[in-house]
Amino acid sequence: MDRKRIAAERAARYLRDGMVVGLGTGSTAYWAIREIGRLVRDGLSIRAIATSKQSEAHARRLGIPIVSFAEIDTIDLTIDGADEVDADLQVIKGGGGALLREKIVAGASKELIIIVDDEKPVEQLGKFPLPVEVVPFGFELAVRRLQELGCKPVLRLHEEIPFLTDNGNYTVDCHFGRIEHPIELHTAINRIVGVVDNGLFLNMANRVIIGCSDGAVKEWDKHGDAV
Ligand code: A5P
Repeated sequence: MDRKRIAAERAARYLRDGMVVGLGTGSTAYWAIREIGRLVRDGLSIRAIATSKQSEAHARRLGIPIVSFAEIDTIDLTIDGADEVDADLQVIKGGGGALLREKIVAGASKELIIIVDDEKPVEQLGKFPLPVEVVPFGFELAVRRLQELGCKPVLRLHEEIPFLTDNGNYTVDCHFGRIEHPIELHTAINRIVGVVDNGLFLNMANRVIIGCSDGAVKEWDKHGDAV
């Protein structure tokens, strides 16, 4: 069984009738949305808010009722993927280009469950290039400021032109190698004029669910305890 799928299906067990649910983005969140669609078809009554146009379209195709922030203020539970996660449940996200909407949704959520396969847990964050969403105007300046923070910044391209997020912004992938002080780095990056946000999701996840190659599913709660 697919590692991402088993993590996603375990996470869906936390859904309850009446919840407002945040839908993540990426190949792991894909399985979660699929499972939520199945549960809705079987009678689960929820409303959902998506972290990307792609996830929203997927959810609509499955008949999951979609709402916007005009209609709701808080989200009960968000299920989303990640690019790296450490034992303190600190996370790098944004490999799929949706970090800003993902962070807005995560920030409005009472609970955030991160679903990953067993290649995503790391001892130290930073091997995966940290995505940073920047406004196109003057992005060259933001790139230089990012470099001064000790990384190799690479503008993300799609078919040889800058990749555009759902918000019409660029993404700069910052190769740090190791991130020793994530909180300080998060603050320093977001202070750069033109940066909208970065892919460090710190103290946001309540639970990490890991699908393993041997078919086992591990859960880490907020305190890093294996469940
Ligand atoms: C989307 O912007 C990302 O944050 C994804 O959640 C993350 O990249 C994980 O993606 P996969 O589940 O496809 O590995």
